Amino acid sequence: MLNIAVLVSGGGTNLQSIIDNIKNGYLKDVNIKYVISDREGTYGIERARAHNIDTLVLDRKIYKKELSNKIYEVLKDKVDLIVLAGYLSIISSPLVDGFKEKIINIHPSLIPSFCGKGMYGIKVHEAAIDYGVKVSGCTVHFVDENTDTGAIIIQNVVNVKSDDTPEKLQKRILEEEHKALPLAIKLMSEHKIFIEDRKVIIKE
Ligand code: GRF
Repeated sequence: MLNIAVLVSGGGTNLQSIIDNIKNGYLKDVNIKYVISDREGTYGIERARAHNIDTLVLDRKIYKKELSNKIYEVLKDKVDLIVLAGYLSIISSPLVDGFKEKIINIHPSLIPSFCGKGMYGIKVHEAAIDYGVKVSGCTVHFVDENTDTGAIIIQNVVNVKSDDTPEKLQKRILEEEHKALPLAIKLMSEHKIFIEDRKVIIKE
């Protein structure tokens, strides 16, 4: 059984996709042990409560620079994988070191484009459209000390249409996120993911 913690800051549709894929049997040996939010009042926490998952709000305004330490204290030796699903606070050591290659994040672009500090939410899609790219998508990657720089596990591509607005593109990419993130978790739970020289190898 792969015990996971899901960290959210917002609506939690990616969390919902994990819950749904556990319920429908796609994720067989995965258990969501905790859902943690870095702010009060997120719908992600409501989704978790509706499914009787243990929740915790560790308010970023209260913990400030200690937030990552606090999360490490809570999750150390309790979970096998941490999934950042629309989580906006900085993750630093000892959390990153303690969970080396055991923290994954979903980002709504094809990394290394439109990522890094300050690139989140609708801004990502505005930047993609402004640049005029013909494809965008989503990336599931491991989390390291920097923002969006860890080894890439999965990328799903979405065509950018000439009449796309950032909102329309965001919606289509989100649909792909809801496939890519559960797949990455499934591969982790089946021990099929290996990192060699920052490249992720998926062994079937
Ligand atoms: C998603 O696009 C995710 O990639 C990003 O935050 C957005 C919100 O997702 N990191 P969710 O609905 O809260 O899961």
